[in-house]
Amino acid sequence: MAGGAGRATVRSLGNTGEDVEQMVEDVRAGLLGVPKDLSPWPKYFYDEIGSELFEEITALPEYYQTRTELSILQEKAPKIVARTGCRELVELGSGSSSKTRALLDAMVSRSGSTSGPDRYVPFDVSASALAGSAQRLVEEYPTLEISGFVGDFDHSLESLLARPRSEAFGRLVIFLGGTIGNFMPERRRAFLERLRAGLERGDYLLVGVDLIKDARVLEAAYDDAAGVTARFNKNLLNVLNRKLGGEFDPELFVHRATFDREASRVEMWLDSTVEQEVPVAALDLEVPFEAGEGMRTEISTKFTRESIAGAFDEAGLRLLDLYTDDRDLFGLALGEPA
Ligand code: SAH
Ligand code: TRP
Repeated sequence: MAGGAGRATVRSLGNTGEDVEQMVEDVRAGLLGVPKDLSPWPKYFYDEIGSELFEEITALPEYYQTRTELSILQEKAPKIVARTGCRELVELGSGSSSKTRALLDAMVSRSGSTSGPDRYVPFDVSASALAGSAQRLVEEYPTLEISGFVGDFDHSLESLLARPRSEAFGRLVIFLGGTIGNFMPERRRAFLERLRAGLERGDYLLVGVDLIKDARVLEAAYDDAAGVTARFNKNLLNVLNRKLGGEFDPELFVHRATFDREASRVEMWLDSTVEQEVPVAALDLEVPFEAGEGMRTEISTKFTRESIAGAFDEAGLRLLDLYTDDRDLFGLALGEPA
């Protein structure tokens, strides 16, 4: 590639998720609830091993989301970039940034780098995922300015969006992978409102949403034959053990995924196979489980055009378009401040 490497920086923004006091508080609330529920805090899945296992999930035959979202992006990226005219891409929960290339390609080839560089701002709680992707991207996109931030969007969304920006060009904020579906409805609403507050006229939002479909297809996507998702789910126990001095034995739990059509979401659970009490030193607790008792670890909400339009609307955003694949498996919702 001509022109040599571009510029990349990776910095921390606020609380990077390494805050053990915060984790103690979150996990205590989750383990004392009925039922036990850690799903409000998806970020704890993504330690280095969790981020790697998630990458494995994205390549599974049952996990249609990633390749479908990529195919929609590949087809629509030039249109999205032309329509928004954006030259700064801010990505929330960017992970490996692999699908983002479709948008970066379209952005870079449209601007032709004639009037200053385009900018990519990946933001993720996983320092390892972010460092790896920034390193790769800087070599692939010599004209791109990459400013990565390690942080937690539960806390630092405002400071991320308040950072200096170009006056001449709008920003496109993207949130891919169906991650918005991992928030409970109230949390999602608050999140979209905070996001809306950080956008200006001429800025846009692009959100990847998984769509409602056959329950068997949905459940298989979260309970694959090779058992990778089960390992990803159980890795949360390893995180609790390591960070909080827990003594969870992953072998004494089974992974379960069910689609709740009423609530329109897949739920991931870890069920204790035996009656047991699990010490967690940092919480000063022995957590009791009955045989068969479940602990919810994650939700993944599935949308329709109407429900994502409604969610945008509630937060002061207007849905401009929902780009989908030809089988309506997955959607990319483009919005702007209403
Ligand atoms: N966008 C990628 C990754 C999706 S997985 C894709 O579509 O494949 C969800 C990503 O969000 C992970 O990289 C995880 O580290 C990140 N994440 C989860 N909770 C977060 C939080 N509270 N703040 C910032 N990033 C978070
Ligand atoms: N955002 C992804 C999703 O909801 C995260 C995910 C995929 C996930 N598989 C998982 C979270 C299994 C927990 C367990 O599709």
